[in-house]
Amino acid sequence: MAHKDKQEKAGTPHAGSGIWPAGRYMDMRRRSLQDPEGFWSEQARKLDWYKTWDQVLDWDPPYAKWFVGGRLNACYQCVDRHVRSWRKSKVALYWEGESGEERVLSYSTLFREVNQFASALKSMGIETGDRIALYLPMIPEVIVAMLACARIGAVHTVIFSGFSAYAVADRVQDTGAKLIITADGGYRRGKTIPLKKNIEEVIDQCSSVENIIVVKRTGEQVPMKEGRDHWLSDLMKNADMWVEPEAVEATHPLYILYTSGTTGKPKGIVHSTGGYMVFNHSGYQWVFNIQEQSIYWCTADIGWVTGHSQVVYAPLSHGAAVVIYEGAPDYPEVDRWWDIVEKYGVSILYTSPTAIRTFMRYGEKWPQKHDLSSLELLGSVGEPINPKAWHWYYTHIGGERCPIVDTWWQTETGGIMISPTPGIDPVPLKPGSVCFPLPGIDTAVVDNEGKEVEAGTRGELIIKRPWPGMLMNIYNDPDRYQATYWSQFPGYYDAGDFAMRDEDGYMWVMGRSDEVLKVAGHRLGTAEVEDAVVAHPAVAEAAVSSKAHEEKGESLVLFVILKKSEAPSDTLKEELVKRVREAIGPIATPEDVYFVNSLPKTRSGKIMRRVLKAVASGEEVGDVSTLENEASVDEVKKAYESLTQEAEA
Ligand code: PRX
Repeated sequence: MAHKDKQEKAGTPHAGSGIWPAGRYMDMRRRSLQDPEGFWSEQARKLDWYKTWDQVLDWDPPYAKWFVGGRLNACYQCVDRHVRSWRKSKVALYWEGESGEERVLSYSTLFREVNQFASALKSMGIETGDRIALYLPMIPEVIVAMLACARIGAVHTVIFSGFSAYAVADRVQDTGAKLIITADGGYRRGKTIPLKKNIEEVIDQCSSVENIIVVKRTGEQVPMKEGRDHWLSDLMKNADMWVEPEAVEATHPLYILYTSGTTGKPKGIVHSTGGYMVFNHSGYQWVFNIQEQSIYWCTADIGWVTGHSQVVYAPLSHGAAVVIYEGAPDYPEVDRWWDIVEKYGVSILYTSPTAIRTFMRYGEKWPQKHDLSSLELLGSVGEPINPKAWHWYYTHIGGERCPIVDTWWQTETGGIMISPTPGIDPVPLKPGSVCFPLPGIDTAVVDNEGKEVEAGTRGELIIKRPWPGMLMNIYNDPDRYQATYWSQFPGYYDAGDFAMRDEDGYMWVMGRSDEVLKVAGHRLGTAEVEDAVVAHPAVAEAAVSSKAHEEKGESLVLFVILKKSEAPSDTLKEELVKRVREAIGPIATPEDVYFVNSLPKTRSGKIMRRVLKAVASGEEVGDVSTLENEASVDEVKKAYESLTQEAEA
């Protein structure tokens, strides 16, 4: 009877065959927490190692080293393993260009291309440990290039092709990359993105760069500097067909990926090879229940961590057939994605709530034009999914047949941390809940003092012990690593998210608890945006906040104090918006600009963004004195009044 009650409470359209958490999951969970080292070494044995590890975990808080002394190669796991089996002739990548072109790469073709690319890298003098920046559109070469780097032990840093030239310069400078791999351009909504030209704008600021490899994609004329710039096609002609994979230490960095934090410039998150690969290989099976015949499509761009873990390293390590698409979701028509699902027979679709909400707005008539019966499992990532969007996805895309795995994780966690795990047991779902931590993941919801809160109470999400996919460090900035993740709750990883555990033990992630902004699932830092605005000669001070947005989840709102000599104008608003787009990229386009005379601050001068957010969203500001005890309430109230007057004006 108790079992039945619990299941009914879950109110799920996808009730499993018993109460959840259920048998197999509970067994794995218990074992993983009682004997984490035994558990993770069992998982690690599913990969091929040149040498097995001497020590499973070296935990010297806050630094975790996994599989110390072990040697492996991530490219070997993703490619060579498969060409040694029947998967040699299996499809690795189905690529579709925006204009409808298609390329299908088998594992053996991928193997050949990766080897040749690795040989080209070597011909540029690239060695193990060198950093390489990738600024490429969603074309097969981006995956080939990542794997080629991994093959020779070079560390890739992929820069989202929607980012501006300045974002490229920042990342190249921070990593000291010797080589940039880019393309003449990419396609987006029928237009071209001039990637090589963008690089040209900032290359003078990138003194570490010795060579640039350029992939021909659009065929547009681009400047090529003799001796420095090389067409990939020329290099491939002379390349070797075989390059020995480098047997790197498990703790050797596989990549650096930049993500935004509360303060300062984006931080370079460093991921290991061994722990990262083990964690992703296991989690992928548990969450997506991948089968040989699965056709898997994760719609994320390769420039984000989802692209790294869930388009490249996890699926390819399983020898999965992966779909990738170059262009905009609604181009040339809003059923483009559903056309792709039908055409390739996609069985697993993994996307973001923002995308779902956008399609929801267009209406179900678009997916209804297509046969989506190949779909078996749906996934969601990047931001909380509201129940309305969940139900729409479940009904109109999944045909009320497919479970939805709502997966919580971060750039820093390397792989999925909290999610339903249909690959272990069927899961009764609750729309909007990320359900349960994966085996081996020890989460808790705590108050500001680090004390666990009761079920049903919102608190901070922390992870109580290291896991193999955990970031190794922030590149060039160990102090920031320590301060960001390990200072508030010593010994525990601070995720920076609010969460709640309900009475059934289900987890609900409720947005950022810090000042990181999430616009359309993309992570943006306040400092990056504010730096761009303050650089305008008319601006004295600026603060960025967000307000709720029906599709994007959140949208950016700027509050700007002008210099005394300047007057507010629409032209100035446009200039500021343009400046942010140029400095970061179109994803950071502000939705509103308010000119104000003062900003709400604490006595120590910290801007109270929660007040700004409330103001911009037209919500009650509430009792600010309890929010920030240092706050000067009068100042806040004054600012609030001036803001609302401006907003109304
Ligand atoms: O706030 C959480 C949100 O995205 C943040 C991590 O962003 P990023 O490093 O860009 O990685 C996104 C893709 C892994 C988290 O701190 N987030 C991610 N997934 C979810 C989520 N919020 C709620 N539900 C999710 N499923």
